[in-house]
Amino acid sequence: MSTDSTPLQSSAVINEAVQSLRDGGLVAFPTETVYGLGADAKNPEAIKKIFAAKGRPSNHPLIVHLAAPDKYDVAKIDWAALLSSWVRDLSADALLLANTFWPGPLTLVFKKDKSVLNELTGGQDTVAIRAPAHPIAQELLRKFKGGVVAPSANRFGKVSPTSAADVRNEFEGMLDLMVLDGGDCEVGIESTIIDMSSGDKAILLRPGAITPSEILAKTGIKVIQPGEALKKDEEVLPRVSGSLLAHYAPTTPLRLYAPGRVLDALSEFPDIKSRVAVAVLDSESSLGHDGHPSVHFEEVIMPSDGAAFASRLYRSLRDLDQQGWDLILFPEPPAGEEWDGVRDRLQRACFGSGTSSSSHDSN
Ligand code: TXA
Ligand code: MG
Repeated sequence: MSTDSTPLQSSAVINEAVQSLRDGGLVAFPTETVYGLGADAKNPEAIKKIFAAKGRPSNHPLIVHLAAPDKYDVAKIDWAALLSSWVRDLSADALLLANTFWPGPLTLVFKKDKSVLNELTGGQDTVAIRAPAHPIAQELLRKFKGGVVAPSANRFGKVSPTSAADVRNEFEGMLDLMVLDGGDCEVGIESTIIDMSSGDKAILLRPGAITPSEILAKTGIKVIQPGEALKKDEEVLPRVSGSLLAHYAPTTPLRLYAPGRVLDALSEFPDIKSRVAVAVLDSESSLGHDGHPSVHFEEVIMPSDGAAFASRLYRSLRDLDQQGWDLILFPEPPAGEEWDGVRDRLQRACFGSGTSSSSHDSN
């Protein structure tokens, strides 16, 4: 997913990163979705370092990242062979999803092989796996010749990083971290997660760029919402940390406004907010200056295409969060499945935002 402007790391730097992973170190690397904080999936001590660095509870499972072999022809990759040492009971549907969407922004959850470390699965009997499409991620994984666990490279509950500089800011002063620079992430929100571990059902655990309609159109597989799965299958453990309400959150209070109702969103705040950043879809007309008399609004234009919006979402939240606004307002995403990933992240970001609410126990 690189473009001509993507700064590609030299092979020497990637070799150094591979060595660091082999030595049990952490390496941050770009993927097409967000930057990941990587460690050797077979090294329990290295995995513990990830949980410590992120401040993430140890029962929140990680995704294992795998690479296609050298010089692959995407249509001929034998994913079943590559998955065989990680998963058991690989279903025909799960293999079809891998063949159709890997490498790409899709994570699949399988029943785990017994050799998969409990440290990475949070004690669950399933394992999440994805094959990223970013060329730097692929080169790193290919040279490492093994699985790399990589959560998003942010502190737990915070906005995921979409550039190398974001990762450095996130861990500045805490962690001397090697960060591979692959430019800005193209997708911009985390991968779609589908649970295939029950064998016969495909359950959406996290919406992302790859939507259930696209999956249905390309594979004939019907993806169901978690609520549609049988109640008896419900897990007690938090299977997806992003499913906690407060997540992906900026420190500045963030709220959504209904189309044309910017002032209504302010009424929620009894104390007058004087400086408010308002994100506006480029298809909408400007807010004008006839707003609240004591509020200074500044508009931030966002794309009205769902994928383009997603690609800019975390960048915008991070930048606005650092500009000292009293309040950030975002438009409620339009209806439609292509906005589900954005809607999911924005709703959680609202819930967890603001200094007073950032101490929610789920953050
Ligand atoms: O796009 C992505 O998926 C990024 C890039 C770096 O690959 N990674 C990412 O990782 O978002 P993380 O750890 O921030 O989110 C992974 C999600 C978590 O919410 C976790 O609970 C869920 O995947 N997960 C991992 N293993 C699971 C399992 N066995 N069953 C259900 N959910 C699982
Ligand atoms: Mg994350």
